[in-house]
Amino acid sequence: MDISVANLIAKFARKLHLFLSRIYGLSCRYLGFYRFLPPSKIHIIFTSKCNLDCNFCYVGKNLNQPEPNKLGLDEWDKIVNKSSPLSVFIFSGGEPFANRDIYPVVNKFLDKKRLVSITTNGTIINLDKLRPLVQKNLFFIMISVHGLEKTHDEIVRRPGSFKKLVDNIKAIDKLKKELGVEKPLISIKSVISPDNYKEIPQLIEYIEQHLPVHHIYFNLMAGDTLHHSLDFITDINDPRYSQGSLYNYPEDIRDGILETIDFILNKKKTSHLDIGFTDDFQSDNDLRNFIKNSHDYKVNPCNRPWHEALLYNNGDSSSCLGFKGANIKDVDYNINKLLRTPEYKPFFNFINKSKGDSIPCTGCKEAAFKKKSY
Ligand SMILES: C[S@@+](CC[C@H](N)C(=O)[O-])C[C@H]1O[C@@H](n2cnc3c(N)ncnc32)[C@H](O)[C@@H]1O
Repeated sequence: MDISVANLIAKFARKLHLFLSRIYGLSCRYLGFYRFLPPSKIHIIFTSKCNLDCNFCYVGKNLNQPEPNKLGLDEWDKIVNKSSPLSVFIFSGGEPFANRDIYPVVNKFLDKKRLVSITTNGTIINLDKLRPLVQKNLFFIMISVHGLEKTHDEIVRRPGSFKKLVDNIKAIDKLKKELGVEKPLISIKSVISPDNYKEIPQLIEYIEQHLPVHHIYFNLMAGDTLHHSLDFITDINDPRYSQGSLYNYPEDIRDGILETIDFILNKKKTSHLDIGFTDDFQSDNDLRNFIKNSHDYKVNPCNRPWHEALLYNNGDSSSCLGFKGANIKDVDYNINKLLRTPEYKPFFNFINKSKGDSIPCTGCKEAAFKKKSY
């Protein structure tokens, strides 16, 4: 059995992270610690540009927008210098590597020893420019893979994408070996969709046998969600906050989806990889029942609004569900001050009032689902 440090971290990092973030969230929300603690996690939406066109993408309509007011590298310097080692920085988008500034900006965060993860489609990584980031301890790369070659390329609607991402995963692994480093941990993220669910068992077996990765995380399909959708909400009474965004798999394929889920749950027990779901259910049975009837489930609002935020490439910020906060320039480029600005107050009040059944949270990809008690 491989008990390298990277494998131990890979196995326990997510559980430890979830546990610590729960405690952090409780203190930020109920003890008011958000007034002096830094956010635990910042999702940096580094660009809306994307070279792919995934047929289920929840960012879809907001991709490839003009970006006239991008933060300059000197401004990122200020952000990095004022950032805290307690915060984790997750680069996403759009496709984060579609903004070539990703290399110097991540480099700045790593020079300051910040923990950085990048979520990417894995197709347009410049390996020469990635090299210094690997040398400087880039922690995680999450690569989206939604099927074997034909299926994946059809879902992302760009031929050749699967081959490119596989080549890049192997090249990153080679680079790690050459540099004698164990990070970045490489994870696969895969959405279970009507187009790929039959192929997921073969995909897992392919990944197990051929790809040097640590984890496979599955996402259930989200519907028209506000989760990282790049939609901004400026009024708490916006009708989008009273629309649910639960996605129901079409009835005629639900049995097939359940077979796929059972396959994944069994694989979880035997695979050398860490396999799991990003969606949070109290038990495997709840996960299965949710597929049969998602309307039996609710989401209790969580504490994330008090300790997590999104930062966009023009310096705007938002809460998890897109509620628009202050611009980073208004807080002198100090991320730690973002959540303390008055802009977030209406959203905090809104979540405080949404006790027990928060409708807008149903599309959250990190939500904790619970069965409704009638
Ligand atoms: C919007 S993408 C941006 C980062 C990068 N371009 C990528 O493809 O990973 C972030 C993640 O959201 C997932 N995603 C997009 N639309 C989704 C949906 N409707 N349901 C569930 N996950 C979705 C993607 O598969 C990806 O893992």
